Amino acid sequence: MEGFTRRPRSTREEQLLVKAKRLLPSAVLSSSFSPEHAMVVSSAAGARLRDASGNEYIDYLMGSGPLLLGHAHPAVVDAVRQQAEKGSSFLVVNEKAVELAEAIVECVPCAEKVCFNNSGSESTFFALRIARAFTGRDKFMKFEGAFHGMHDYALMSNQWTSGPADFPAAEPNSAGIPRVIEDQVLIGPWNDLETARRLIEAHAGELAAIIVEPMQRSFPPQPGFLEGLREISQRHGIVLIFDEVVTGFRLALGGAQEYYGVVPDLAAVCKGIASGYPISVLCGRADLMELAGPARLAQGDHVRMTGTFSGNSIACAAALATLGELRKEGTYSALFAQGRKLMAGLHGELERAGIPHQLTGEPPAFQPWFNVEVATNFRQALKADPALGARFGALLVDHGVLKAHEKFFVSTAHGDPEIEQTLEVFAAVADLLARAG
Ligand SMILES: Cc1ncc(COP(=O)(O)O)c(C=O)c1O
Repeated sequence: MEGFTRRPRSTREEQLLVKAKRLLPSAVLSSSFSPEHAMVVSSAAGARLRDASGNEYIDYLMGSGPLLLGHAHPAVVDAVRQQAEKGSSFLVVNEKAVELAEAIVECVPCAEKVCFNNSGSESTFFALRIARAFTGRDKFMKFEGAFHGMHDYALMSNQWTSGPADFPAAEPNSAGIPRVIEDQVLIGPWNDLETARRLIEAHAGELAAIIVEPMQRSFPPQPGFLEGLREISQRHGIVLIFDEVVTGFRLALGGAQEYYGVVPDLAAVCKGIASGYPISVLCGRADLMELAGPARLAQGDHVRMTGTFSGNSIACAAALATLGELRKEGTYSALFAQGRKLMAGLHGELERAGIPHQLTGEPPAFQPWFNVEVATNFRQALKADPALGARFGALLVDHGVLKAHEKFFVSTAHGDPEIEQTLEVFAAVADLLARAG
């Protein structure tokens, strides 16, 4: 395909990048930065995004997942505009927050009560605190390769770990984390139930929680894995937390817990819910969530977890409008159908070009790996070829397709024209990769 090639950078974009270099650490807004994202965005609508040089991209980065309806969905923009005129932040209970809490309890299987936060990191952090308060235990298990946000407890043995430690030792993924924290974290192997079970049983009396991404990054659970964790956590009185920051409302209205059919005690939901407005939800069993209420002060087991912007009415209005769209008949079947076309197209083109690869994930969020035999967890995926993956991402950008550094995030705004254009780009990029050897 001749198609799109990126225009030279405009003077305006060059100037903005120079300013960003002076003002922002490493000139980026996110530490999960890919070199191909060295651009300045000027606007986006639906599935398309425009840079400050006037290049248009089909966007599968989608803000790292939250734009499940695409950018600037009219229903969301309208709801935000209407609410902005009525006020934004009140701290006290407001109409939109109550309506949203009700909608979440209707949709998410584990949700009996709901608290609002601003980011996924806050909700996983508070979920662990509730689990500690409830059980009177301090430690928790997370799985190697899983990412639960940026707080000290979460940044252990996640996807940036290049030399993993022996299970269950934790490997901090950031400077500045106190050494005492890693002693509180046990690392288990994703999709290896027998080893996980052995580790959990050996430490059951100390474990407050097991936290999982029910689809870990892009590795779906093997049959029986989540069910096994559910059974063993119940047996030992350990709180099972699903980090549904990515999967919530993306895999189904009820998230991964509906999609995979395993219901946790607590869930953190974030990206899928509000079309890019900052809100996250911690929800779950009423007896656990009640600890967050100040009524528990008298009992001495109150878990403090409030924030100035909790239940911000603009974010809640955006979420209600998003859920209104997601609840429409046929939304998820259309979303999955588009994702399946992309996965089949990418697989077909890479195979035709003779490039060994594997696609993991589910149709609304999937990831290609290069030169790796079948991987079902992080340690196996470490054998993939990161240089080829990075080259693939950079060539896509040059051909007008943007993806997250790991995944393709598909939205309801990716219509047939976007999918067809993307499939043509896959063909061109597969040829270029094959030619480069
Ligand atoms: C599974 C998962 N949990 C938690 C987080 C952290 O969410 P936030 O960036 O909103 O703090 C992320 C962010 O990518 C995530 O993917």
